[in-house]
Amino acid sequence: MSPDPSHPPILETERIRLAPLANEDARQIFPLMADAEVMAFWDVGEIDDPDVIDGIVAGQVDEMASGRAFYWSLRTLSDGRFLGTCDLSEIDRRHHRAEVGFMLGREAWGQGYAQEAMQAVLSYAASSGVRRLLARTHLGNRRSEALLEKLGFAEEGMLRGHVLRDGERRDCRLYGLLL
Ligand SMILES: CC(C)(COP(=O)(O)OP(=O)(O)OC[C@H]1O[C@@H](n2cnc3c(N)ncnc32)[C@H](O)[C@@H]1OP(=O)(O)O)[C@@H](O)C(=O)NCCC(=O)NCCS
Repeated sequence: MSPDPSHPPILETERIRLAPLANEDARQIFPLMADAEVMAFWDVGEIDDPDVIDGIVAGQVDEMASGRAFYWSLRTLSDGRFLGTCDLSEIDRRHHRAEVGFMLGREAWGQGYAQEAMQAVLSYAASSGVRRLLARTHLGNRRSEALLEKLGFAEEGMLRGHVLRDGERRDCRLYGLLL
Protein backbone atom coordinates (compact mmCIF):
# COMPACT_ATOMS: atom_id res chain seq x y z
CA MET A 1 0.00 0.00 0.00
CA SER A 2 1.15 3.51 -0.70
CA PRO A 3 1.87 6.36 -0.54
CA ASP A 4 1.79 7.09 3.23
CA PRO A 5 1.24 3.82 5.03
CA SER A 6 1.10 5.27 8.54
CA HIS A 7 -1.65 7.73 7.84
CA PRO A 8 -5.01 6.55 6.51
CA PRO A 9 -6.83 9.28 4.62
CA ILE A 10 -10.17 10.84 5.49
CA LEU A 11 -12.73 9.27 3.16
CA GLU A 12 -16.18 10.63 2.43
CA THR A 13 -19.24 8.95 0.96
CA GLU A 14 -22.67 10.37 0.26
CA ARG A 15 -23.66 10.13 3.95
CA ILE A 16 -20.54 9.24 5.95
CA ARG A 17 -17.20 10.69 6.92
CA LEU A 18 -14.51 8.09 7.64
CA ALA A 19 -11.72 9.62 9.72
CA PRO A 20 -8.57 7.94 11.11
CA LEU A 21 -9.36 6.57 14.56
CA ALA A 22 -8.20 8.76 17.46
CA ASN A 23 -7.81 8.02 21.17
CA GLU A 24 -10.80 10.28 21.95
CA ASP A 25 -13.08 7.98 19.92
CA ALA A 26 -12.87 5.41 22.74
CA ARG A 27 -15.66 7.24 24.58
CA GLN A 28 -18.06 6.59 21.71
CA ILE A 29 -16.85 3.07 21.01
CA PHE A 30 -17.50 2.04 24.62
CA PRO A 31 -21.32 1.79 24.35
CA LEU A 32 -20.94 -0.39 21.23
CA MET A 33 -18.49 -2.80 22.83
CA ALA A 34 -20.58 -2.89 26.03
CA ASP A 35 -23.60 -4.07 23.99
CA ALA A 36 -23.99 -7.86 24.07
CA GLU A 37 -25.91 -7.85 20.79
CA VAL A 38 -23.22 -5.89 18.93
CA MET A 39 -20.58 -8.24 20.37
CA ALA A 40 -22.56 -11.46 19.85
CA PHE A 41 -20.25 -12.59 17.02
CA TRP A 42 -17.00 -10.93 18.11
CA ASP A 43 -13.94 -12.87 19.31
CA VAL A 44 -14.47 -11.50 22.83
CA GLY A 45 -17.70 -10.86 24.70
CA GLU A 46 -19.06 -7.45 25.68
CA ILE A 47 -16.73 -5.22 27.70
CA ASP A 48 -18.10 -3.18 30.62
CA ASP A 49 -14.90 -1.36 31.60
CA PRO A 50 -14.20 1.90 29.69
CA ASP A 51 -10.51 1.67 30.61
CA VAL A 52 -10.27 -1.58 28.64
CA ILE A 53 -11.73 0.18 25.59
CA ASP A 54 -9.23 3.03 26.05
CA GLY A 55 -6.47 0.42 25.93
CA ILE A 56 -7.87 -1.29 22.83
CA VAL A 57 -8.21 2.00 20.95
CA ALA A 58 -4.72 3.12 22.03
CA GLY A 59 -3.39 -0.19 20.66
CA GLN A 60 -5.18 0.40 17.37
CA VAL A 61 -3.78 3.93 17.11
CA ASP A 62 -0.31 2.45 17.69
CA GLU A 63 -0.93 -0.17 15.01
CA MET A 64 -1.75 2.64 12.58
CA ALA A 65 1.43 4.50 13.47
CA SER A 66 3.43 1.39 12.61
CA GLY A 67 1.53 0.96 9.32
CA ARG A 68 0.14 -2.47 10.21
CA ALA A 69 -3.51 -1.43 10.10
CA PHE A 70 -5.88 1.41 9.28
CA TYR A 71 -8.85 2.11 11.55
CA TRP A 72 -11.56 4.62 10.74
CA SER A 73 -14.32 6.14 12.84
CA LEU A 74 -17.61 6.56 10.98
CA ARG A 75 -19.80 9.62 11.50
CA THR A 76 -22.74 10.99 9.58
CA LEU A 77 -21.89 13.93 7.36
CA SER A 78 -25.22 15.57 8.17
CA ASP A 79 -24.84 15.89 11.95
CA GLY A 80 -21.60 14.18 13.00
CA ARG A 81 -23.39 11.32 14.76
CA PHE A 82 -21.00 8.47 15.63
CA LEU A 83 -21.98 5.28 13.78
CA GLY A 84 -19.12 2.89 14.46
CA THR A 85 -15.75 1.86 13.09
CA CYS A 86 -14.23 -0.10 10.25
CA ASP A 87 -10.72 -1.19 9.43
CA LEU A 88 -8.11 -2.72 7.19
CA SER A 89 -5.86 -4.84 9.40
CA GLU A 90 -3.11 -7.43 8.90
CA ILE A 91 -1.79 -5.27 6.06
CA ASP A 92 0.73 -7.35 4.15
CA ARG A 93 2.69 -5.23 1.69
CA ARG A 94 4.60 -8.13 0.22
CA HIS A 95 1.46 -9.95 -0.84
CA HIS A 96 -0.70 -6.82 -1.30
CA ARG A 97 -3.44 -8.09 1.00
CA ALA A 98 -5.31 -7.08 4.14
CA GLU A 99 -8.24 -8.09 6.34
CA VAL A 100 -11.45 -6.06 6.70
CA GLY A 101 -13.48 -5.44 9.85
CA PHE A 102 -16.55 -3.36 10.77
CA MET A 103 -18.75 -2.62 13.76
CA LEU A 104 -21.73 -0.30 13.97
CA GLY A 105 -23.91 0.64 16.92
CA ARG A 106 -27.28 -1.11 16.80
CA GLU A 107 -29.23 2.09 16.10
CA ALA A 108 -27.19 2.42 12.87
CA TRP A 109 -28.01 -1.07 11.57
CA GLY A 110 -30.41 -1.63 8.69
CA GLN A 111 -29.68 1.65 6.89
CA GLY A 112 -26.94 0.63 4.50
CA TYR A 113 -24.25 2.58 6.41
CA ALA A 114 -21.86 -0.36 6.71
CA GLN A 115 -22.15 -1.12 3.01
CA GLU A 116 -21.56 2.52 2.09
CA ALA A 117 -18.52 2.82 4.36
CA MET A 118 -16.99 -0.47 3.23
CA GLN A 119 -17.42 0.42 -0.44
CA ALA A 120 -15.26 3.47 0.23
CA VAL A 121 -12.69 1.34 2.08
CA LEU A 122 -12.61 -1.21 -0.75
CA SER A 123 -12.09 1.54 -3.37
CA TYR A 124 -9.34 3.06 -1.26
CA ALA A 125 -7.68 -0.34 -0.80
CA ALA A 126 -7.82 -1.05 -4.54
CA SER A 127 -6.38 2.36 -5.41
CA SER A 128 -3.58 1.78 -2.89
CA GLY A 129 -2.51 -1.44 -4.58
CA VAL A 130 -4.22 -4.01 -2.34
CA ARG A 131 -5.19 -7.01 -4.45
CA ARG A 132 -6.79 -9.37 -1.94
CA LEU A 133 -9.07 -8.81 1.02
CA LEU A 134 -9.99 -11.33 3.68
CA ALA A 135 -12.87 -11.33 6.15
CA ARG A 136 -13.70 -13.76 8.94
CA THR A 137 -17.15 -14.15 10.46
CA HIS A 138 -18.47 -16.27 13.31
CA LEU A 139 -21.02 -18.82 12.17
CA GLY A 140 -24.49 -17.31 12.45
CA ASN A 141 -23.50 -13.69 11.81
CA ARG A 142 -26.04 -13.31 9.02
CA ARG A 143 -25.85 -9.51 8.88
CA SER A 144 -22.11 -9.62 8.38
CA GLU A 145 -22.33 -12.39 5.78
CA ALA A 146 -25.01 -10.49 3.86
CA LEU A 147 -22.85 -7.37 3.87
CA LEU A 148 -19.78 -9.24 2.64
CA GLU A 149 -21.77 -10.91 -0.14
CA LYS A 150 -23.17 -7.53 -1.27
CA LEU A 151 -19.59 -6.23 -1.38
CA GLY A 152 -18.63 -9.10 -3.68
CA PHE A 153 -16.80 -11.34 -1.21
CA ALA A 154 -17.03 -15.09 -1.83
CA GLU A 155 -17.09 -17.74 0.85
CA GLU A 156 -13.78 -19.59 0.84
CA GLY A 157 -13.93 -22.00 3.71
CA MET A 158 -14.50 -22.82 7.32
CA LEU A 159 -12.15 -22.55 10.26
CA ARG A 160 -13.39 -25.17 12.70
CA GLY A 161 -13.20 -24.26 16.39
CA HIS A 162 -11.15 -21.19 15.53
CA VAL A 163 -12.29 -19.01 18.43
CA LEU A 164 -12.57 -19.74 22.15
CA ARG A 165 -15.47 -17.63 23.36
CA ASP A 166 -17.31 -17.97 26.68
CA GLY A 167 -15.69 -21.36 27.26
CA GLU A 168 -16.77 -22.79 23.90
CA ARG A 169 -14.99 -23.19 20.59
CA ARG A 170 -16.66 -21.43 17.68
CA ASP A 171 -16.39 -22.07 13.95
CA CYS A 172 -15.62 -19.16 11.62
CA ARG A 173 -16.27 -18.63 7.92
CA LEU A 174 -13.63 -17.15 5.68
CA TYR A 175 -14.53 -14.76 2.90
CA GLY A 176 -12.21 -13.42 0.22
CA LEU A 177 -12.30 -10.73 -2.44
CA LEU A 178 -9.78 -10.25 -5.24
CA LEU A 179 -9.54 -6.60 -6.26
C1 LIG B 1 -22.27 -6.41 10.45
C2 LIG B 1 -22.97 -5.06 10.48
C3 LIG B 1 -21.96 -3.93 10.31
C4 LIG B 1 -23.99 -5.02 9.34
O1 LIG B 1 -24.77 -3.85 9.46
P1 LIG B 1 -26.03 -3.62 8.47
O2 LIG B 1 -26.64 -2.34 8.83
O3 LIG B 1 -26.89 -4.84 8.51
O4 LIG B 1 -25.31 -3.59 7.07
P2 LIG B 1 -25.59 -2.78 5.73
O5 LIG B 1 -24.94 -1.47 5.75
O6 LIG B 1 -25.24 -3.70 4.63
O7 LIG B 1 -27.15 -2.51 5.75
C5 LIG B 1 -28.02 -3.49 5.24
C6 LIG B 1 -29.43 -3.15 5.64
O8 LIG B 1 -29.70 -1.78 5.41
C7 LIG B 1 -30.91 -1.65 4.61
N1 LIG B 1 -30.81 -0.38 3.91
C8 LIG B 1 -31.54 0.72 4.20
N2 LIG B 1 -31.17 1.76 3.46
C9 LIG B 1 -30.17 1.33 2.65
C10 LIG B 1 -29.39 1.95 1.66
N3 LIG B 1 -29.52 3.24 1.37
N4 LIG B 1 -28.43 1.21 1.03
C11 LIG B 1 -28.24 -0.09 1.33
N5 LIG B 1 -28.99 -0.74 2.27
C12 LIG B 1 -29.94 -0.03 2.93
C13 LIG B 1 -30.90 -2.94 3.82
O9 LIG B 1 -32.20 -3.21 3.33
C14 LIG B 1 -30.48 -3.93 4.88
O10 LIG B 1 -31.55 -4.10 5.80
P3 LIG B 1 -31.93 -5.53 6.42
O11 LIG B 1 -30.71 -6.02 7.16
O12 LIG B 1 -33.08 -5.25 7.31
O13 LIG B 1 -32.26 -6.39 5.23
C15 LIG B 1 -23.72 -4.86 11.83
O14 LIG B 1 -24.69 -5.86 11.98
C16 LIG B 1 -22.79 -4.89 13.05
O15 LIG B 1 -22.14 -3.91 13.38
N6 LIG B 1 -22.74 -6.04 13.76
C17 LIG B 1 -21.97 -6.17 15.00
C18 LIG B 1 -20.49 -6.23 14.77
C19 LIG B 1 -20.10 -7.39 13.86
O16 LIG B 1 -20.57 -8.50 14.02
N7 LIG B 1 -19.21 -7.08 12.92
C20 LIG B 1 -18.76 -8.03 11.94
C21 LIG B 1 -17.75 -8.96 12.46
S1 LIG B 1 -17.21 -10.07 11.14
